[in-house]
Amino acid sequence: DPELVKAGEKVFKKCKACHQVGEGAKNKTGPLLNGIVGAAAGQAEKYKYSKVMKAAAEEGLVWSEEELAAFLAKPKAYMKGTKMSFAGLKSEEDIQAVIAYLKSFPQ
Ligand code: HEM
Repeated sequence: DPELVKAGEKVFKKCKACHQVGEGAKNKTGPLLNGIVGAAAGQAEKYKYSKVMKAAAEEGLVWSEEELAAFLAKPKAYMKGTKMSFAGLKSEEDIQAVIAYLKSFPQ
């Protein structure tokens, strides 16, 4: 849904302080997010994740749309000890929109 992707681009402004997507995206404060929807957690090359994110990755966490939605709603509650300093997205619409936007950037 192109409208949802467009809405998600706006929501992603909140993420841009720390994350990049698209061609030439690099790790910044947070890891680059190309191809993140459906991907295994904690796999961005040369990015230094928190201990808990590494542990979740070892346990096989996959960023399905459901897991991503839960994480983005309340990162610190979803993953105690994550170094993602972001309060979360309050609106379920915003969460669905930003996930649609992220899906438009393949690996
Ligand atoms: C990690 C998404 C906002 C900093 C992550 C991950 C995702 C994500 C999916 C896991 C990546 C992976 O497993 O490779 C988002 C989205 C945001 C957002 C969609 C906006 C809605 C932010 C902001 C910051 C930030 C504003 C900085 C203030 C980080 C950091 C990590 C991370 C430091 C690594 C976490 C760790 O290792 O525990 N983010 N993020 N993010 N993000 Fe964000």
